[in-house]
Order: sequence, then C-alpha cells, then structure tokens
Amino acid sequence: MKKEVEYKGLKFEPYITQEQINARVQELAAQISKDCDGKEPLFLCVLTGAFPFASDLFRAVDIDAEISFIRLQSYQGMSTTGVVKQVMGLGEEIKGRNVVIVEDIIDTGHTMHNLIATVKEKGAADIKIATLLFKPSALCRPVKPDYVGFEIPTKFIIGYGLDIDGKARNLQDIYVLKDDK
Ligand code: HPA
Ligand code: MG
Repeated sequence: MKKEVEYKGLKFEPYITQEQINARVQELAAQISKDCDGKEPLFLCVLTGAFPFASDLFRAVDIDAEISFIRLQSYQGMSTTGVVKQVMGLGEEIKGRNVVIVEDIIDTGHTMHNLIATVKEKGAADIKIATLLFKPSALCRPVKPDYVGFEIPTKFIIGYGLDIDGKARNLQDIYVLKDDK
C-alpha cells in the first residue's frame, strides 16, 4: 500500500486496507447468503463505482444468485448535484425478484432513493441494499441500507471503485483526502 497517492493535485492517505475490505466482504456475503437462501436473489450492481465490490461480494455468496448492472450518475468532481439521472435502464428481469442493490457508497442518499423507487416500480418482490460505505451524517433522504461494509464520516475517499473524476478506481485500498476536516 502506498503511504500517499495524488490525484488532481490533491493528496490522499490510506484509510481502509484491502485486507479489511476483504474480511468485511466475506462477513456481508455470509449474512446475505443466510438471509436470501432459497430466494435466488438478483444482485443489481450500480455502475461504475460498485463493480469491484459487487464482483467480490457476488463471488463470496454461496447460494444461487444472479447479477445485473445499472448505470446512474449524480456526482461530478467532489460535489453532489442532487440530480439523479438514469443512464442505463433496468430490464424486465426485476419483476417478482428478490433484488439486492449493490452500491459503493451511500452519501446524500439521492441516488439510492431514486433507484429504490425505480426498482419498486419494475415490480421487485423484495429490495435489500448492500453498500460498501455509508456516510450517515451526509444523508438527506430516508435510506436505510441492510448491509453496510463501513460507516464513515463525511470525508472524501477514493479507491476500490470510488473515483475522483473517473480516476483512482483501480486502487486496491481505500484512501482519504488529507487534511480533510
Ligand atoms: N468519493 C468518491 N465518490 C463519492 C464519494 C466519495 O467520498 N461520496 C459520494 N460519491
Ligand atoms: Mg456510486
């Protein structure tokens, strides 16, 4: 792990190691396997940020399950717009299914709030939310994730899928913006 990484002139320091991430992913997968046994859940990976988490989580689950992908966008640079735009639609496969939405991070909750409504509209039988990271103090919508990897303060983080303007997603560890209050 690097002591420090730099993107866009900003310095980031280690925050959550890949070992911690792996261990937590195994725990979440065990819980989901228990809760969803016999329900053949459909994992819905929210692109782009959730793809490393979804890949690890999905493969750690030891029950029959399927995976599908959706792309939404609400974030530009480091500030939220609150505007949630669906870019890539959901298929008909949602109807009557037990859906596990997989996100990298729940921040303001706007994205997740909107997505839950869309998935409900498509006729999901049940919706569970798995998020690697959760910033409870940034939340402006009533969103309650069922499976949370790590609760974190309102700091800007990157790595393991999380980006700064498209970069840093390929870092294996999670880093936090230095001197961020
Ligand atoms: N980092 C990257 N993307 C994000 C964050 C963050 O801290 N919060 C919401 N989207
Ligand atoms: Mg995201």
